[in-house]
Amino acid sequence: MTLRVLVTGGAGFVGSHAVAALLARGDDVCVFDNLSTGHRSAVLPGARLVVGDLADHAAVDAVLADGAWDAVLHFASLSLVGESMREPMLYLRTNVGNGLHLIDRCIHHGIGRFVLSSTAALFGNAPPGAIGETAPIEPGSPYGESKAVLERALLWADRIHGLKSAVLRYFNAAGADPEGRLGEDHRPETHLIPLVIDAALGRRPPVQVFGTDYDTPDGTCIRDYIHVSDLAQAHLLALARLDHGSVTYNLGNSAGHSVREVIASVARVGGRPVPHGFAPRRPGDPASLVAASARIMEEAGWQPRFAALDEIVRTAWAWRVAHPQGYAD
Ligand code: UFG
Repeated sequence: MTLRVLVTGGAGFVGSHAVAALLARGDDVCVFDNLSTGHRSAVLPGARLVVGDLADHAAVDAVLADGAWDAVLHFASLSLVGESMREPMLYLRTNVGNGLHLIDRCIHHGIGRFVLSSTAALFGNAPPGAIGETAPIEPGSPYGESKAVLERALLWADRIHGLKSAVLRYFNAAGADPEGRLGEDHRPETHLIPLVIDAALGRRPPVQVFGTDYDTPDGTCIRDYIHVSDLAQAHLLALARLDHGSVTYNLGNSAGHSVREVIASVARVGGRPVPHGFAPRRPGDPASLVAASARIMEEAGWQPRFAALDEIVRTAWAWRVAHPQGYAD
């Protein structure tokens, strides 16, 4: 079954890879993006791009009224844990305000399916071990809090209005399109893997390890890195599940890697040492976030293609070597 899908934030890192997956199966895709962090050339040919802002209510209504949408995939949001600790009200106002308005207008326009990009940052300082869908929601940052509010809103949107939703809680999205068309290009870049790769390539100063005194085996933070194309595939499978009702899935590889292990992986894949130094902890960073992703595997048949950290790093390395300046625009 092919669908007509509206993708907010479809010019961003995860959104653009989801658009690629939707196009590959023949869906009719429209991207709605203000290009504040996304890139025009990250929208693959085949998808339509509407440049617009979710805070522009007339623009949102115009695009939602433009025919019958089978689903809305909502990626567009501010997404940096560290930044949200410095600008809490900006994060809450933007992510919650825009998200609630979009959900409300989807209900108004009779759209039946909604997919929310949620996050592992919901879980704050979770106890050690893999985190399943029923773990307590205790955000450690305003960013995590903003997604927790939207998750709750979707519960009510289903109960009262019948809007079926898939809440996908990403752990650490990384890697790049295996066909080399898309990659990770944040400006400024704050994410670990691209910074480590650039340090290895000599394009940036040595990467700083934020904190070596965490309660983890090597003292550095542990994250569950998930390939962005595997994440994209999860959106298609979750959408199909909505015929059975709303779903919530934690999405990772059920394996954690420390910052030191990421540095070692890049050194292996790139075949060169990674210049690095050590810095204090970054506010808002939990010690460890590892997903228990059995539910989406069992219910929706999701299977990661790039589960190994070196495979994820390999695709990211290839894109950054081929695109020294990132996207052209
Ligand atoms: N880190 C460093 N040095 C750097 C950058 C990062 O040591 O220069 C460390 C961080 O402290 C953290 C780990 O590398 O421990 C990963 O940091 P990222 O900035 O790459 O990613 P985050 O874990 O902060 O956040 C990402 C997404 C969020 C999402 C979260 C879920 O950006 O949107 O994963 O786990 F909520």
